[in-house]
Amino acid sequence: MLGKRMVEALNEQINAEMWSAYLYLSMSLNAAAKGHKGVANWFAIQFKEEQDHAQILINYTLSRGGEVKLSPIAEVETSWKNPLAMFKDTLEHEKKVTAMITNLYEIAVEEKDYPTQNRLKWFIDEQVEEEENAQEIINSLEKVGDDGLGLYLVDKELGSRTYSAPSPLAE
Ligand code: FEO
Repeated sequence: MLGKRMVEALNEQINAEMWSAYLYLSMSLNAAAKGHKGVANWFAIQFKEEQDHAQILINYTLSRGGEVKLSPIAEVETSWKNPLAMFKDTLEHEKKVTAMITNLYEIAVEEKDYPTQNRLKWFIDEQVEEEENAQEIINSLEKVGDDGLGLYLVDKELGSRTYSAPSPLAE
């Protein structure tokens, strides 16, 4: 059984993951509106992955007798100057999420909640990947240029990303 403090912290993280999903959906829509199909595809997949992150936390909270309370999702930006600005915002956002996961883990340590610590290890690893992915795309765009042929090539590459659930824990 989860303690009250842990349940509250997990519910906050569920909301943060849904906010991330909403942010990436917004980026996908903005990219599509500007004709960047590959970027739109990449963020549409990111949108799904963030929902999976929320679902993993929901499944876990319920499995340990905690109550999941869905709270409102705050507004997100709807327009970015270009894909490079989107990926820079993505990286900054993911760094914040990493800090939130670290904070959640610290609560689990303080509460001596070992199962939650174990589950959060999945998120700690996932955050390394999330930051790395955004940084790699920023590097590519900075190398080849974020307009004209450079953007065309990166957009094409991002269009080949396909979705697969990040973990069976989301089922
Ligand atoms: Fe759910 Fe992008 O971290």
